[in-house]
Amino acid sequence: MERTLVIIKPDALSKKIVGKVITTFEQKDFKIVAFKMVLVSREKAEEFYQEHKGKEFYEPLVNFMSSNPCLVMVLEGENATQKIRDIAGNTDPQKAEEGTLRELYAQDNRHNILHAADSLKSAEREVKFFFSENEIHHWEGKIYKK
Ligand code: CMP
Repeated sequence: MERTLVIIKPDALSKKIVGKVITTFEQKDFKIVAFKMVLVSREKAEEFYQEHKGKEFYEPLVNFMSSNPCLVMVLEGENATQKIRDIAGNTDPQKAEEGTLRELYAQDNRHNILHAADSLKSAEREVKFFFSENEIHHWEGKIYKK
């Protein structure tokens, strides 16, 4: 089982498509093990996206991500990092494969509704960036019927 980090970005909340995004992950059998709403500070956004510092899209990206609240979550499932990225689709919605979340709902490559960690190493860093270990829930043995 793998854990990965997803950020539902401010544009998704503004468009009221949060439920659709979460339903998509649940239907693909991913389990939510941590979840919260955060207004990411400018400093935190700069740190989170530090690998992009200096690129022409960095400043507007940081502005956008700290403009309004995001929903951050940890999803657990088999091969979660790669699978979640596949479900999200290409960063640029114009290039995103049909049926992916970004193809369906994103406006452009800044307002692209969600972020998903791009490797196991990033997933580990990003989960720790937003959550302490005691905020991550373990579901073993808890199965509920309708
Ligand atoms: P995300 O998955 O959050 O990771 C880095 C973000 O930078 C990416 O999604 C995009 O929102 C943004 N990004 C990457 N490339 C570009 C680009 N060419 N123009 C604008 N934003 C970009």
